[in-house]
Amino acid sequence: MNPIYQYAGLSNVKQPGLSVDQCAARLRNLAYAEERLMRLQAAHLVTVPEWDIKGLLGRLQYEDALHADQLRSRLPELRVSKKKAFAASETPLQIVFDEALHAANTPELLASLVLVFKPALLQTYRDYLAATNSLADYPTVRLLKIIIAEEMETLPLLEAAYRDVVDTLEKEAEAQRWANSLRAMLAAAGGLDGTGEVDSTQPQPVRAVTPFVIPRRMSRDNTFRQIWDFAHVENEQAAERFAQMVATRLSEITAAEGLAFVLCEVEGQPWPFYLDISRHLWDEVRHTFFGEAATEQIFGDRAAMPIRNFDLTYVFQMTPLEQYAALGLGIEAAMMKYPPGKREEYEFCRDVAQHPLMTTFQDFDWADEVLHVNIARRQLKDWFRGSQQELLALAQQGVDLRSRTRKMQPASPLPDMSHVLPEKVVHR
Ligand SMILES: [Fe+2]
Ligand SMILES: [Fe+2]
Repeated sequence: MNPIYQYAGLSNVKQPGLSVDQCAARLRNLAYAEERLMRLQAAHLVTVPEWDIKGLLGRLQYEDALHADQLRSRLPELRVSKKKAFAASETPLQIVFDEALHAANTPELLASLVLVFKPALLQTYRDYLAATNSLADYPTVRLLKIIIAEEMETLPLLEAAYRDVVDTLEKEAEAQRWANSLRAMLAAAGGLDGTGEVDSTQPQPVRAVTPFVIPRRMSRDNTFRQIWDFAHVENEQAAERFAQMVATRLSEITAAEGLAFVLCEVEGQPWPFYLDISRHLWDEVRHTFFGEAATEQIFGDRAAMPIRNFDLTYVFQMTPLEQYAALGLGIEAAMMKYPPGKREEYEFCRDVAQHPLMTTFQDFDWADEVLHVNIARRQLKDWFRGSQQELLALAQQGVDLRSRTRKMQPASPLPDMSHVLPEKVVHR
């Protein structure tokens, strides 16, 4: 017998551990916490002006959505009905996360994540692993190890961001105050897995006496120059067309911000809706990063490229339904036609601009957009109450509003990219 691989290497095999019901109860609370973290981070992707933190929140909100999904998917294996597993749960944690949504600025938001929720989450997962029998509860154990690894990878990123923004004693005191009040509320709610004592007299929300609404206000620092729009050219003007493609990718942050409204303000949809939108949101942040990475690679300075921001003006005016229909069934669906569309953008980068990095980016951008159109068709079919014709009309209304908004201010030129393209392409 070699204890190293006896029991397939699993530990904790001789402790009675937790019962199926105890495991399910903890996992339900943890899934709820991960879902609320998704919302907290997505909502503040709109309010946070610091560019790199905005992008980081885009990734984290999606990873937490996946964690919530994986935890919920385990529940039906623990004798919880599928309906109950994916339904909204009643938990004292609700008011803690309602309060956390009211973070007034980036230091407060990061304080809640770095000083309270993320360390508590890691500790709770570790406590679970220590308490359960790894042989009996193997599927959860494997799942939690993967979630812990992801949380461990991203907590230092948030900590670095926290150190960057909390750079005075005054901000530190403010951040600590917010963290302390949330920590007290979390303890009184019985902790993230609900195993603690619940003290219903204690967690009194201070700010969540009114519901949190994401402010309709553009929040962006000066990492990039903001312009209204840029001029649109044909493929024959290769250098200008290439610059436009890079700038368009960079400007997709607006689509991500718009999706945050859909994710956080649409109530009562089944869980797969939120998982889909969360993914879509992160994809648009990734597309933004495509533009940023290409700019940095080409100019050695990401700030060489401006961001166009006219899109936010109409996003702020629309309801989430109007906005999502316009994005998914208007703008993105139109990109499926070839030519021009996403495929042509990819071929342009490959054959005309001959730019390897942008070729890779457009290749995956195309793949992602196919997914987004499929998500939009699937989700809007259930979400929209009217006929298919009415839905397409709604999407078209949004597209028209976008065109009108675009013309409200003049377009600006983009930096010259002729040095990036092959000589014969620029002068043809
Ligand atoms: Fe995109
Ligand atoms: Fe998209």
